[in-house]
Amino acid sequence: MALTLLTQKLKSCFSFLLLMASLSLSVQTAPEVSQLYQFTYPVAVENLFSLPNGCLLLSTSANADLYYIDPEALFPAAQNVITLSGSIKLTGITALGDNFYAVTGAGPNTGSYMQIYVIKFETEGLVSVTVDHMVKVPETGNISGMAALPSNPRTILSADAVGGRILRVNTTDNTVSVAFEHTALKSNEQINATAKGIKGLKIRGNHLYFTNSAQKFFGRFPINADGANTGDVEILARLDETFGNDASYDDFSFDSEGNAFVAVHPSSIHKIAPGGTQLVFAGGVDSMMLEPTSTLISNTGKAICVSTAGKDTGYPISGGQVLRVQVGT
Ligand SMILES: *[C@@H]1O[C@H](CO)[C@@H](O)[C@H](O)[C@H]1NC(C)=O
Ligand SMILES: *[C@@H]1O[C@H](CO)[C@@H](O)[C@H](O)[C@H]1NC(C)=O
Ligand SMILES: *[C@@H]1O[C@H](CO)[C@@H](O)[C@H](O)[C@H]1NC(C)=O
Repeated sequence: MALTLLTQKLKSCFSFLLLMASLSLSVQTAPEVSQLYQFTYPVAVENLFSLPNGCLLLSTSANADLYYIDPEALFPAAQNVITLSGSIKLTGITALGDNFYAVTGAGPNTGSYMQIYVIKFETEGLVSVTVDHMVKVPETGNISGMAALPSNPRTILSADAVGGRILRVNTTDNTVSVAFEHTALKSNEQINATAKGIKGLKIRGNHLYFTNSAQKFFGRFPINADGANTGDVEILARLDETFGNDASYDDFSFDSEGNAFVAVHPSSIHKIAPGGTQLVFAGGVDSMMLEPTSTLISNTGKAICVSTAGKDTGYPISGGQVLRVQVGT
């Protein structure tokens, strides 16, 4: 009798252990996050972009300094490679081909105009950066995400977060036009007309993917070769209350399989599969991530680099960070 009871107990204990084992197999272990570099307050890192040599370009918001960092260095340190004079902060970065890059800067009269700097970046031998020319983008103050047209990479699409427009900037003849406008790109005017709508912007296949910060969704539009939309918005994922009321999407990048890794304020990276399935990939409550602003899949695909804005409330205040999230082993 006692023996059968004991066996019963052992059996249930054993099946409990089996259950635990299978559970721990199916639960994804949190990827390792490490800090590569931290700026001093109040410098925030707005965006990052990878160069063919694996080093990163960083745009900062406290001034118009463009930084360069080698994420594989033993002690990575950000170096200021150029100050883009005439701007008070830098936002989006994209590649135009042939070592040319476009960097967005905001003019000193907040909201009146922005400018796209076309820079040439040489990484053979000594690093050298020169400004080729500048394109003025009038009547906007909130261009953040930026992407080159795949079939015509000297022309870029820029996200106007307040106007709810996709601007087309041709860096060859320096003309600016509106590719399209849509309410899905605006903030939610009923709630807050000056909040930011579209933040991140990427082109993949025949679609323009974007995050809308105020409206809390990730979606896409079908576009043609000139960047005009050829159909309506498709919403792929939303930040509902299960992710917390303060959560908001910022910029993102795709891996080779089309998964989007989205920077989410205040402290996480979400992974959104091509079908829209969303999970918290890294970070979360008590994470060392301080207001993630954008992500970048490393050239090897083994790591995701994350830029952050840092923290200007509470104690201690902190500058923006460059973090590395390990992918797989
Ligand atoms: C965003 O744009 C609006 C209107 O163009 C402007 O008033 C506001 O200051 C801008 N915000 C920033 C951060 O530039
Ligand atoms: C950009 O301007 C150049 C020169 O005018 C033109 O050849 C090119 O087609 C333009 N690009 C787009 C996408 O319209
Ligand atoms: C609206 O959004 C702006 C920018 O994010 C913010 O500074 C402001 O406090 C917001 N206003 C309200 C009423 O929430």
